[in-house]
Amino acid sequence: MTGVTIIGTGSYAPGRPVTNHDLARVMDTSDEWIRPRTGIHQRHYAGEGETASDLGFRAAERAIEAAGIDRGEIDAILCSSMTSDYKFPGSGGLIGAKLGIQGVPAFDLQQQCASMPFSMQVANGLISTGAAKTILMVGADAHAGFMPWKDWDVLYGERDAEVSPEARAQATKHRGLAVIFGDGAGAMVLRKSEVEGHGFLGAQLHTDGDYAEDIALLGGGFRSRPFLTKEMIDEELYVPRMAGRSLFKHAVKKLPKVVRELCARHECTTEDVDWVIAHQANDRINFAVRDALKLPPEKVPSNIARYGNTSSATIAILLDELIRGGKIERGQLLCLLGLGAGLHWGAALMRY
Ligand code: COA
Repeated sequence: MTGVTIIGTGSYAPGRPVTNHDLARVMDTSDEWIRPRTGIHQRHYAGEGETASDLGFRAAERAIEAAGIDRGEIDAILCSSMTSDYKFPGSGGLIGAKLGIQGVPAFDLQQQCASMPFSMQVANGLISTGAAKTILMVGADAHAGFMPWKDWDVLYGERDAEVSPEARAQATKHRGLAVIFGDGAGAMVLRKSEVEGHGFLGAQLHTDGDYAEDIALLGGGFRSRPFLTKEMIDEELYVPRMAGRSLFKHAVKKLPKVVRELCARHECTTEDVDWVIAHQANDRINFAVRDALKLPPEKVPSNIARYGNTSSATIAILLDELIRGGKIERGQLLCLLGLGAGLHWGAALMRY
């Protein structure tokens, strides 16, 4: 038996890094608050007009180059984004068009921060049924459009001015959410492994819609006629609402459990796992997961300090850094792990 494996990775983060100190120019926050609570030191934001498909395209180009394939060999695209270029269609087809591979089917998945374990399950299904041989999997998010400030030039230090008290109050209202997200994209090229016992082994995936509003974009949905109203703008419903503490509790409870269950199903122990590539929402969540699973710190790497939470992209960006850095070796057992808006959560096991 062989499953789908990664033959190339790529990632991309737009613009220059924005530090916690930079954020304090537009809202009441501080490095002292953000860093110990989250592990985040800086993040990147897409520029005006720069979209999830632009970021995803850049990461995809790098992954294709690393895989050493011709882009014409890709026969399916799996794209995950919670901040797609349009409300619809999704960004997968746009990435295909930017790559010049129009006609290749693109699947848009919406599992947000849990997207990589879910996508890996779908990719393995497509490959094992013969529907595809070479899959481009992309996670890309451009959250800049929901950030609760307008004075980007002040944020970047390009204009030496104070933002108005109203603008500061508005951004401060959403600071718990705003400080944790950053923009970026990660991509992988996937093919069936040629080594017996290698590749995707299985996934354990869960969804519970009862908690959909723990983190959700309440404005611009088709529960409303019309789906977008002036009142939604006035109520700032273009900024997602997040119950941070509830999500934190869900994550520290559900994530270790799902890893244990998945390992048990595949007759291995959590000790056998070489790398837990976990979603980067908050270092403290991953420390708790690591402790619950009794894993040493080096098995649960983090790059949240440099990117913040890039939602659908975090796992792919981290994998790209570890694979390019020569840390992850062929034959090692990887566990991709994430929880995000939905509520979706899950883990996927792969012998790389
Ligand atoms: N800067 C300064 N102060 C802030 C702040 C910021 N960025 N954000 C919140 N605060 C303040 C609050 O106003 C509050 O002050 P008060 O006690 O005077 O009312 C206090 O800090 C605590 O706020 P709270 O929102 O309860 O913070 P928290 O301890 O829950 O931490 C998160 C917030 C977001 C870091 C944390 O809840 C978290 O990481 N949750 C998980 C989120 C997640 O995983 N989201 C993505 C899912 S994919």
